[in-house]
Amino acid sequence: MRVLVLFAHPAQRKSSINVAMASGARNLDGITFVDLYAEYPRFSIDVDREQRRLMEHDVIVFQFPVFWYSTPALLKQWQDLVLEYGFAYGPEGKRLAGKLVMPCITTGGSRADYSTKGGNRRQIEHFLYPLEQTAVLCGMESLPPFVLHSANHLAEVSAQHHIAAFPQLLAALRDERFDFVSARQLQTFNSFDLNDLIRI
Ligand SMILES: Cc1cc2nc3c(=O)[nH]c(=O)nc-3n(C[C@H](O)[C@H](O)[C@H](O)COP(=O)(O)O)c2cc1C
Repeated sequence: MRVLVLFAHPAQRKSSINVAMASGARNLDGITFVDLYAEYPRFSIDVDREQRRLMEHDVIVFQFPVFWYSTPALLKQWQDLVLEYGFAYGPEGKRLAGKLVMPCITTGGSRADYSTKGGNRRQIEHFLYPLEQTAVLCGMESLPPFVLHSANHLAEVSAQHHIAAFPQLLAALRDERFDFVSARQLQTFNSFDLNDLIRI
């Protein structure tokens, strides 16, 4: 499958996880990697180009750190401008139908924080509902998110496990070695789940 990674991180000099994940993804054969903040530092998104990119791919991966329970601002701008009526939705807007969307996110909050008894009161997938429903409205399938919690407080070995897993996930999607049937049963998945989700 043709995989497009749309990476959004506005403060990459301060990133310890996403930039490392991105560098594993950037040069993967057969994957299109787009650093949105590098391409559009002034937020002036080239809508035609982004729509063309979407059309040319089967799987759209949104890679971002969760900021204020949402996407970084440029990724919201990208949604607002690129997913146009008549292109992505509406009676004549079926150009994205059948594509797959997968959020690959990191959070500062822990897994326990993202629970009914935790400080954030809900699981992480609930905060992704606008993105999920946007995909569904556009006729795409929203897959469970690949999540790294506690991204700022990880043991080095755990961070490295996640960073190494990201390009493996992308390659498995590309080569159709990803077990979609099992993944669809999950609410979220992490780098340790990939052992069961990737066929060798
Ligand atoms: C402006 C801002 C808002 C943030 N909002 C949240 C949030 O709502 N929930 C959360 O779990 N973490 C939040 N964080 C923490 C980031 O998600 C975390 O720093 C990031 O995932 C770490 O990845 P990085 O090392 O690649 O930057 C926020 C961080 C910043 C700077």
